[in-house]
Amino acid sequence: MSINLDVWFTPAEYKDEQEQTAVVIDVLRATTSIVMAISNGCQAVIPVAQVEEALAQREVCPDVILGGERGSLLIPGFDLGNSPREYSREVVAGRKVVITTTNGTLALRRAIKAKTVIAASFVNAGAVCRFLRQTSGGGGLLCAGTKGRFSLEDALCAGLIASRLSDVAAMSDTALAAAAMYQGAQAHLREIVESSSHARHLAAVGFAADIAFCLTHDVVDVVPILADGVLKAMPG
Ligand code: MLT
Repeated sequence: MSINLDVWFTPAEYKDEQEQTAVVIDVLRATTSIVMAISNGCQAVIPVAQVEEALAQREVCPDVILGGERGSLLIPGFDLGNSPREYSREVVAGRKVVITTTNGTLALRRAIKAKTVIAASFVNAGAVCRFLRQTSGGGGLLCAGTKGRFSLEDALCAGLIASRLSDVAAMSDTALAAAAMYQGAQAHLREIVESSSHARHLAAVGFAADIAFCLTHDVVDVVPILADGVLKAMPG
């Protein structure tokens, strides 16, 4: 089977591609944290745009965990920041998490009209590729970027997925570019990503360990899928 594969390097390039599967990528760190939460038995992750929306959800449902960041730091009154290592089984199993982040949750909401919306990162890239191989029609990899601009780590993750699907995908020029970028970078992926602007910022505010974690490939097998504004593990 052949699939059409596109890559949008920033959310602004994405134009309500309703017939497609949108694969939202925010490696550092929103989609990595979401994938880890779901993989660790979190019942649901609810992405919201504003801090106030998250606090309002807790008014309605006092049991929810509030997570996310502003400026990469814990938001006052929230339970968890945006480090994937915080979303452990002990903390999130069986619970609902409401999450708000600067770029990742906005990108998820931007894709909301697509036929299917899933969350991807290096940690679940293999599971995402298996899912896309079985998807009829097209798929598009939507990079969250940083404040509307291109982010190297998201483009590299899109490139990993595109490279792995090159035997079945009819690729757009951006998909080919992402794949070439990943193939050129893979031998030195960590050094290259560590030199990116968001990684330098994360290291400066004390989250250097998250960078290595977020770059580990294929550690979990889940594909979070967004339906009715809520991310859950893809059944089956
Ligand atoms: C975001 O969504 O902007 C990020 O994941 C930011 C971060 O965790 O530093």
